[in-house]
Amino acid sequence: IDDRGRRVFDLRAQPGRRDFGQGGPTDTWGFNGDYLGPTLRANRGEQVVVNVVNGIGEPTSVHWHGMHLPAAMDGGPHQMVRPGATWSPHWTVDQPAATLWYHPHPHGRTAEHVYRGMAGMFLLDDEPSAGLPLPRRYGVDDIPVIVQDRKFESDGRLDTDQGGIGGTGILGDTLLVNGTVGPYLDVSTERVRLRLLNGSNARTYDFGFADDRTFALVGTDGGLLERPHRTGRIRLSPGERAEIVVTVRPAERAVLRSYPPNQGLEFLGGRFTGGDDTFDVLELRAGNRLAPSPEVPDRLTPVERLDPATATETRRFRLNGREINGRKMDLDRIDFAVTRGATEIWEIEKQDATPHSFHVHDVQFQVLSVDGRQPPPELRGWKDTILVTGGEEIRIIARFADHADPNMPYMFHCHLLLHEDQGMMGQFVVV
Ligand code: C2O
Ligand code: CU
Ligand code: CU
Repeated sequence: IDDRGRRVFDLRAQPGRRDFGQGGPTDTWGFNGDYLGPTLRANRGEQVVVNVVNGIGEPTSVHWHGMHLPAAMDGGPHQMVRPGATWSPHWTVDQPAATLWYHPHPHGRTAEHVYRGMAGMFLLDDEPSAGLPLPRRYGVDDIPVIVQDRKFESDGRLDTDQGGIGGTGILGDTLLVNGTVGPYLDVSTERVRLRLLNGSNARTYDFGFADDRTFALVGTDGGLLERPHRTGRIRLSPGERAEIVVTVRPAERAVLRSYPPNQGLEFLGGRFTGGDDTFDVLELRAGNRLAPSPEVPDRLTPVERLDPATATETRRFRLNGREINGRKMDLDRIDFAVTRGATEIWEIEKQDATPHSFHVHDVQFQVLSVDGRQPPPELRGWKDTILVTGGEEIRIIARFADHADPNMPYMFHCHLLLHEDQGMMGQFVVV
């Protein structure tokens, strides 16, 4: 906390070297360390400043994924940090408690920068959620779980060839959780909350447990759900998050697994985009005695429903190849302007045979419908990223409040990072 009452973070992007046990040391990039970065955490209402120092020897940027903030602080491709330079964005946190994250966003280079290890979690807290009986002791019963697939050469080097037969970008055969291969977690309480982040470049996961036990899904990208959703599976495409609470029994081993995800593709399309793959993600090793944890409450938080009748604009986004509405990203082109305070409906339609994960900066949205139907329970909370499968149409609604800047755009894009780098991105301003 500085003398103006602001919460100050220091993030230094830097090269590193880590031994992942893959035949030799791996050259990496991380924040304040060799791989990934610290978990940042702030309260609603707090002012934050992050001093981002670029020590990697090439330009990069740091984007606050899921954060509602002025476009000039967003860390997209217009806020590049030169090698050796410092960038100090600041803003006031004004959104519900949530599991957000940060990662580089340099135009055309995001995939490689994230792949080499630059990413971290940004947790937000607020008073209503602090009063809920959910596991909340960080590192004890409230655990960040950053899931990334990586491909290593036999000498331990990262295979950074972003190509890939499915056209989605690199799919690795080795899973890292928080930068660790083959991880386990000693559990000392009856319930644990896992904050799952798909921090992978291209791979979609369908998380569940090896014994098919159910768990409580309590939160999605932008915050807690209205009520917990009991399920055995939660699918996350690149960029998406989920908070789950799982119950364990004394002395047991419970394995979090990723099952073959349904991406709404035909057989071959699915196979080449990782649709056949199963991974063990994280082993929970329960102690012989577990401290009691309260039941997950039936009601978590009120979620204000955005009313489609209040929408003043409907826009359509056709995803095809590496284009959105027939256009590729152009840093000098603003695709449209949104009026500050306006509520808009966005219709997202996928026209090709590749999975895409649609992400919008600045806002959290709500899903109105998936192919004309009510969204399933896991899509009824706040979202900023969503997998678009099949040939379906997804309708979302968002309010673009508070921050206007006619000269600085926000991005919307596919969060498969290769696609993003290949131009599957556009820009809008709020005026
Ligand atoms: Cu997580 Cu524009 O990105
Ligand atoms: Cu983002
Ligand atoms: Cu895509």
